[in-house]
Amino acid sequence: MPAVLGADLEVPVKGGKLVGYANLDYAASAPCLEPVSAAVTAALPAYSSVHRGAGYASQLTTARYEQARHTVRAFVGARPDDAVIFTRNTTDATNLLAGCLPADTTVVVFDTEHHASLLPWARSVRLAPPPFPGEAVRIADEALAGIDGPKLLVVTAASNVTGELWPIAALAHIAHRHGARILVDAAQLVPHRRLNLTALDLDYVAFSGHKLYAPFGAGVLVGRRDWLSDGEPYLKGGGAVRSVGAADAADQGTDWHDDPEPRHEAGTPNVLGAIAIAAACDALSATGWTAVEREEERLITRLRAGLAAIDGVRELSLWGPDHPRVGIVSFVVDGYAAREVAEALSGEYGIGVRDGKFCAHPFVRHLLGTADGGCEDGTASAVRASIGLGTTEEHVDRLVEALRDLTTRR
Ligand SMILES: Cc1ncc(COP(=O)(O)O)c(C=O)c1O
Repeated sequence: MPAVLGADLEVPVKGGKLVGYANLDYAASAPCLEPVSAAVTAALPAYSSVHRGAGYASQLTTARYEQARHTVRAFVGARPDDAVIFTRNTTDATNLLAGCLPADTTVVVFDTEHHASLLPWARSVRLAPPPFPGEAVRIADEALAGIDGPKLLVVTAASNVTGELWPIAALAHIAHRHGARILVDAAQLVPHRRLNLTALDLDYVAFSGHKLYAPFGAGVLVGRRDWLSDGEPYLKGGGAVRSVGAADAADQGTDWHDDPEPRHEAGTPNVLGAIAIAAACDALSATGWTAVEREEERLITRLRAGLAAIDGVRELSLWGPDHPRVGIVSFVVDGYAAREVAEALSGEYGIGVRDGKFCAHPFVRHLLGTADGGCEDGTASAVRASIGLGTTEEHVDRLVEALRDLTTRR
């Protein structure tokens, strides 16, 4: 397994002692992989402008940037003519696509989505959380059948709240039967599972580098070129235009690129971010998905079994304990607000987890059965532990023991 930076990080706990940090917050932002850091360090001495310099360093940096695009294309199994656009993150990618939808497109989206996939759309139909996966397909089918004009189905591949895997192949099939397209939010899938856009027949996928062990500020939107070629350039400026005419010309003669990559990547791109993502893709592919999945499955099963054995800890799940999931588990602890649990885990045990509603307010409210409550309302929140490369059995066991301790105090 490739190593992560910070595996030996020590953090202070109550009483001033230092302990090894148990990072169980990968779903928010994963640590940097060593090969990613090495690739960025190696690119830095020749760091120079991209697409705008004849100098050797510019040529080299441009080649590295474009190579990163090829690597990402292969990593997600994209079709040869799909666009691969570097963005800031998943949120940026979904917003970019939102700006390129044909006029009057209706977006069908589940209430279980992360806000990045729930909110960018001008016109959307929101579907209630389905009680089982087949029902997700059925209600999407029904909703799409009732819509005229262009339509897009938006769905996450793996939930950032429960880790549960969604039936994206079946949803893609349904979408296409109704002449719709599908965007898959793969932010929580790609660090854990192989994705093959072509085999799954997906139209668009989006993900973030910082969740894929590449925390250098880049993300990706991959997918069909036509909407992206016709859409309004996401950023207007240098690089997105072939030429700009004189001020007295009727339309000022701006000739925008049709190719989605230059059209939507105006300004100096985040080269190091792109190189970092490509290095993470290479490292994961070289490790092999079977090994990555097997180790993660072992640890998440251990963690969930540990949680299930503690009275007063309840795991959140939409589709039940046996539904396949990635290395993410959210839970509530009787008698504690989520923030209190997260603070105690950090302050007393050196464990990092996330608490709150994980930018998925409607979904977390649904799972908790609460009517409302803002982000600051700890009773309407949950705790999330998430794992990945670099997670150890000791981290998992420390969390379980800490929660056992906490529950016996009240
Ligand atoms: C499923 C999912 N989609 C989208 C996002 C947004 O990612 P970013 O903050 O990198 O834009 C997240 C981040 O938590 C996520 O978990």
